[in-house]
Amino acid sequence: MSTAEPWTIGRLLNWTTDYLTSKGSDEARLEAQLLLAHALNCQKIQLYTRFEEVVAEDCRAKFRELVKQRASGIPVAYVLGTSEFYSMTFEVNSNVLIPRPETEHLVIEALDRVKSRSGESLRILELGTGSGIIVVALAKHAPKSTFLATDISGKALEVAQRNAAKHAVAERIQFAEGDLFAAVPDGETFDLIVSNPPYVAQSERSMMDAQVIAHEPHVALFAEEEGTAVLRQILEAAADYLNPGGWLLLEFSPMVAQRVAEIAQKTGRYRQVSIGKDLARLDRYLVAQKAD
Ligand SMILES: C[S@@+](CC[C@H](N)C(=O)[O-])C[C@H]1O[C@@H](n2cnc3c(N)ncnc32)[C@H](O)[C@@H]1O
Repeated sequence: MSTAEPWTIGRLLNWTTDYLTSKGSDEARLEAQLLLAHALNCQKIQLYTRFEEVVAEDCRAKFRELVKQRASGIPVAYVLGTSEFYSMTFEVNSNVLIPRPETEHLVIEALDRVKSRSGESLRILELGTGSGIIVVALAKHAPKSTFLATDISGKALEVAQRNAAKHAVAERIQFAEGDLFAAVPDGETFDLIVSNPPYVAQSERSMMDAQVIAHEPHVALFAEEEGTAVLRQILEAAADYLNPGGWLLLEFSPMVAQRVAEIAQKTGRYRQVSIGKDLARLDRYLVAQKAD
């Protein structure tokens, strides 16, 4: 990146877009903008009015380092150390799954149930909180409720705790490390249980984006029983941890939707079992109410 022509913001963006495209990025322009905004410590939108501005060498050196990491295959969210979810910015690192937009459906469904009981303070459990996106978004928008968020990964919980503090909701969220309901204190029950557990079958591995496999934590991705093992464990146990009339919300892949609905019916512990679709009209999540 050095010729007599000055390195303006516009020129850096064009060069980097071509470079990242040549490295296989599908969103090279957007990624170039995100990385440059990060190096310049400004908002992405501010770049548009500064195209002719020449970038100082120290910022260019920082930008070069970020571009190098991205070009090596590291997902842009890990390079930046942040990701957007539900219009909020969250810290992420390689110990946590990068937030996916389809997970916003779980937050919307959960908040609908909180609103339908307006005025009440609900007790809400999230299993497998990862970076904490679900529990923190819920805590932000359900200010009367209190939360328990669990994960089997202590390193993920550290990220989630920082995100709770960053969004000023840490006082209403307890965090606990452990395998699914083993992390829940004896006798505790909840009005709502929400989870986006690992649900990718090992047999789907070859169809997956190589960057996801190389960089995102496998404990967050893969589950036995063709992807349904953790979902099944949650469905079989959750009713015991729900208050009367309480709700269970689960995300999964469209590949396992049918089997998840069958497992839910087979337990005989839920009513109003329905499957929700994501924006691509694919079956993406289950909503079920405790029956007994
Ligand atoms: C698909 S990620 C979801 C993370 C976050 N909730 C999100 O939606 O982005 C699944 C999370 O479940 C955790 N996990 C996997 N197996 C678990 C288990 N048996 N008990 C508790 N957490 C588990 C993983 O560490 C990971 O953080």
